[in-house]
Amino acid sequence: MKLKTLDNLELEGKTVILRCDLNVPLDNYGKVTDITKIKRHKATIDELINKKAKILVISHLGRPKGKEIERLSLNNISDAFVKVMNIKEITVLPYCRPEVIDSVLKDKQLGSITLMENIRFYPEEEENNQKFARELAKIGDYYVNDAFSVSHRKHISTYSLSNLLPSYLGRSLELELTMLNKINENIDKPVMAIIGGSKISTKINLLSNLVKKVDYLVIGGAMANTFLLERDYNIGRSLVEKDKLDVVKNVLKKAKENNCTIILPKEVVVSKNLNDSEEAENIDISKMRNDLAIFDVGEKTIEEICNTASMCKTIFWNGPLGVYETSPFDNSTNIIGRTIAILTKGKIVTSVVGGGDTVAALNNAELSGGFSYVSIAGGALVEWLEGKKLPGLLFLEN
Ligand code: 3PG
Repeated sequence: MKLKTLDNLELEGKTVILRCDLNVPLDNYGKVTDITKIKRHKATIDELINKKAKILVISHLGRPKGKEIERLSLNNISDAFVKVMNIKEITVLPYCRPEVIDSVLKDKQLGSITLMENIRFYPEEEENNQKFARELAKIGDYYVNDAFSVSHRKHISTYSLSNLLPSYLGRSLELELTMLNKINENIDKPVMAIIGGSKISTKINLLSNLVKKVDYLVIGGAMANTFLLERDYNIGRSLVEKDKLDVVKNVLKKAKENNCTIILPKEVVVSKNLNDSEEAENIDISKMRNDLAIFDVGEKTIEEICNTASMCKTIFWNGPLGVYETSPFDNSTNIIGRTIAILTKGKIVTSVVGGGDTVAALNNAELSGGFSYVSIAGGALVEWLEGKKLPGLLFLEN
């Protein structure tokens, strides 16, 4: 696969459609709580400005499913974007058709940045509507993909534009591929994967693939509750996906066939609700009561995970194990993160952490610097590690 980089590309006066991943975590008021993803695009943006291109940035935020949702407007991230990029201003367009965007860009100066409204407000994006793709492509001279983390989606902004315009890798995507290729070339066993987080449905499906590859699979976060329910534990008022019990059974069966040891919480940290964090208790899962909900992995399980980690050579982590935004439910993520950072520093393991939430959780604990590689990609990284071809990278093969 030849990396089509921005090296030697003349862009003066050209319009570049740049796919970024600005899908950052927001608090209840719509304020950006972690800027890691935005920072990753700085090198590309700086280079495009220096090369005097007109830049149209496209990104999604959340999963609005073709509807305009104020909370998911990219207006919410524009201040953080301007600050990180150290630029004077950015034009944030309201939801409008491609011909309007085209006319706005015509009047823009070289080196200017225009941000299109959340691309997933447009139903055409996820439908991969070809008419809309052609209208959008007409705006640009070049397409640059700088968003590895969305490259597993076969959407207009991640895939179709690369078929319609001369296409290149942004610096963030280039670095991500270079680093991941290095790690993938020498993956040492035993391998442990830690999977947590709240995007339950998508990850449960990914687990079926992971059990074929890894020796130990730790399951935490809200996903673990569905596994615990399958094993007939009372999970009280915890978040659960009852319609995924069959998937869980299938994952457990495949794990057995592939000699993959599944590690589930034996102890959990519970409370009546998230705001009751002062009442949090560490209990054995068999002692769970109906009025409680699980918000983190408990002490004995943390110990088991850390001990297993120290026997492994490669560790992949995707998804926080508890509600890391609220202390003390960040405990497992902090302790396990610290242990892996120490093992990495001692060159005992190679550690890869992936996923916006996981990186945010580790940043929160000031630990992400301790990992061998921090990828902002979640689902895309797992699919790539499985050896799947990502639609957003197919242009590299032509
Ligand atoms: C991510 O956060 O992993 C990326 O932004 C992709 O988001 P998606 O899973 O909604 O496509």
